[in-house]
Amino acid sequence: MLAKESAFKQLVFSGVQPTGNLHLGNYLGAIKRFVELQDRFDCVYCVVDMHAITVWQEPTELKKTIREVTAAFIACGIDPKKHIVFNQSQVAEHAELAWVFNCVARLGWLNRMTQFKEKAGKDRENASVGLYAYPTLMAADILVYRATHVPVGEDQKQHLELSRDIAQKFNNDFGESIRSHGFGDAFFPLPEPLITGEATRVMSLRDGTKKMSKSDPSDQSRINLTDDADTIALKVRRAKTDPEPLPSEEKGLRTRPEADNLVGIYAALADATRAGVLKEYGNAQFSTFKSALTDLAVAKLGPIGAEMKRLMNDPAAIDAILADGSARARKLAGGTMNSVKDIVGFVRS
Ligand code: TRP
Repeated sequence: MLAKESAFKQLVFSGVQPTGNLHLGNYLGAIKRFVELQDRFDCVYCVVDMHAITVWQEPTELKKTIREVTAAFIACGIDPKKHIVFNQSQVAEHAELAWVFNCVARLGWLNRMTQFKEKAGKDRENASVGLYAYPTLMAADILVYRATHVPVGEDQKQHLELSRDIAQKFNNDFGESIRSHGFGDAFFPLPEPLITGEATRVMSLRDGTKKMSKSDPSDQSRINLTDDADTIALKVRRAKTDPEPLPSEEKGLRTRPEADNLVGIYAALADATRAGVLKEYGNAQFSTFKSALTDLAVAKLGPIGAEMKRLMNDPAAIDAILADGSARARKLAGGTMNSVKDIVGFVRS
């Protein structure tokens, strides 16, 4: 019994964890696409603070980072009036539905999650239970809005597949109850990943084979959204390259991870393709290309960083946006949760 996607109202949901600095990888890989989707879908964008504490966070720092991610959403162009922007912990239904999903998902499914294995590392006994159960909370995030489309990076694809498995098993396990309560054959949609485009995977400026990451000890490896023009220029100038000029065709990038990364970043910032960029810069020396990349990065990121700083100076205004978004999210999530309670067989007043 497959859920008919067409039976559900199209809705986009995605989340960003408030841990550490936001960088170019977060922008090109996630937030920039969130912005683009606003014209085509109703969107719910969530600062997933409950996911963040699966690994211990310094409380004062966590508060600051929740506001910073919110500021980045707004500064990048997400409209919190037309869409919903909020932080997860203000909508209790996420945790509530996650519990039901903990009882639907199987241990065997969670045991296959590669991200848990990576994050828990060798000392698995000492990882939090939350880190292990993380994907069921992610499923609840999406499905408490019965969202149909989820923009995520490659690294979250497995978690999204698990969300689909949970939705499907819930629909099956409670099929009769779902029908008798008048919800048709399926209560939850099977959410689709939206994995798009060129260079959504931004690599480290110091090593073209490693993802750009907030946990890299070298700040030179990433461009932060709040870096000023001089810092951006310095980081691009110091970015690792190889001695050859740029190739004139895309296949020439295949064995050159650093060149590929810089061309990919340029393409994503310019809304162009790698091939298009190489048409212009093929055979150019890196010094030439890097100065063009610096100009482009400063032009695109400068205003975002400046707006983020301006917003961060008014935390009360950010908190008001989150309060408004949370109230609107709660209405939707509360409706779903009431139906889930009826379907599962809980008594409610
Ligand atoms: N797990 C995602 C990440 O680390 C964040 C996230 C939490 C998320 N809940 C989500 C993404 C729901 C998409 C949909 O990047």
